[in-house]
Amino acid sequence: MTATLPRETSGDDAIPAAVRRAEPIVWRNPHRGCAASVLAASAFSKADMRGAEARWRRFDPLLAKLFAGTQDGRIDSPLLPLPADLARRVLGGAPGSVWVKADHDLPVTGCIKARGGVYEVLTYAEALAGAAGLLRPGLSYAAFASGAFRDLFARHTIAVGSTGNLGFSVGVMGRALGFAVEVHMSHDAKAWKKQRLRELGARVVEYPGDYGRAVAAARDAFRDRADAHFVDDEDSVDLFLGYAAAALDLQRQLAAAGIAVDAAHPLYVYLPCGVGGAPGGVTFGLTLLFGDAVRPVFVEPVASPCMLVQLAAGLDRSVSVYEAGLDNRTAADGLAVASASLLIARTVGALIDAVVTVPDADLFAWLKALWTGAGMRLEPSAASGFAAVGGFVGGAEPADLAAATHVVWTTGGAHLPDAEFEAALAHA
Ligand SMILES: Cc1ncc(COP(=O)(O)O)c(C=O)c1O
Repeated sequence: MTATLPRETSGDDAIPAAVRRAEPIVWRNPHRGCAASVLAASAFSKADMRGAEARWRRFDPLLAKLFAGTQDGRIDSPLLPLPADLARRVLGGAPGSVWVKADHDLPVTGCIKARGGVYEVLTYAEALAGAAGLLRPGLSYAAFASGAFRDLFARHTIAVGSTGNLGFSVGVMGRALGFAVEVHMSHDAKAWKKQRLRELGARVVEYPGDYGRAVAAARDAFRDRADAHFVDDEDSVDLFLGYAAAALDLQRQLAAAGIAVDAAHPLYVYLPCGVGGAPGGVTFGLTLLFGDAVRPVFVEPVASPCMLVQLAAGLDRSVSVYEAGLDNRTAADGLAVASASLLIARTVGALIDAVVTVPDADLFAWLKALWTGAGMRLEPSAASGFAAVGGFVGGAEPADLAAATHVVWTTGGAHLPDAEFEAALAHA
């Protein structure tokens, strides 16, 4: 789908002044369309999401064999009710129930980016194995961990540009299968995330500029390499579909908890947004399943609202937060992205209900509140959803909220080193 935004509401002057001043804002998306017509015009369909789900299931035996922490090989997290006192604080007095989709504790990597990154490594491995004639009918994919499969993968490299968590997801999965892995990162990416990658046996390449520059340089370096695959965080359909399959997990969990999602019972989902892949894929999958009843709310730091400025300015060309006078400096390293993915903005831009921007101080405050009130270990990026709910519901139609369910997607943190986590708590 390539949504064309109306001319009178696009262009740089459509970026609100509060955004340019780095003030928190609730930006209700004036370009939101009806789910059925946006999906009908999309290049992707429910069959693509089901195909991704089927690939995940083919790999269950392999993931169960490689990673003890998975349940039957599934990389999924629980859906947890938020304790009542915290839910009241999050909602700021508005009605509704609050749940947490606990990807901060996702098996294998403790981060939502595994849903895309692990999926893309598996997709590449399956394609290589198929081309090498290794996929016999009835084969258990547990075989990918040994023998001829490993020999094949050891002759190939997987590269990725990352703020940290995508690189870790690609690194864990790639190295477990025997691939060489290169992670291209900005100089100011967290040192412990680089160290963790080196310990896995990945090569870390550092760049003086921001994350976007690292991605662009890596893309160039790997353009013509037949023995390598570049995981393109800004432009990958495989990442997108890997994330989209998460919607099926959430649908199952909502049903098991007896939570209705329909016109009378809207589902608000708060999704931290960096380049947009993870929240974009989840948004697409949930819209395929729930139509207009799902209201995706993207959450970005006040210094890095790349999806907001992209959607506000229009989809003709990439627009960065620097052009809006912002500096892209935030403690939420996973969200420190200056330019959103155009693939994602064009595919799901018209499905997003709102973008909410939040100051860093709120991330630390909620990180602490979730630790003391619910024992959840979050990184600053992953606490952003909680910081967005109050402002968002404060401006919503009361009728809409009476029977609403709010799901805050906590996207990373369980694997934070103790010193990092304690420093974040001390910051609150
Ligand atoms: C913890 C965390 N949350 C959210 C995101 C956002 O994902 P995306 O960049 O795909 O929008 C990231 C990205 O790395 C992340 O690390």
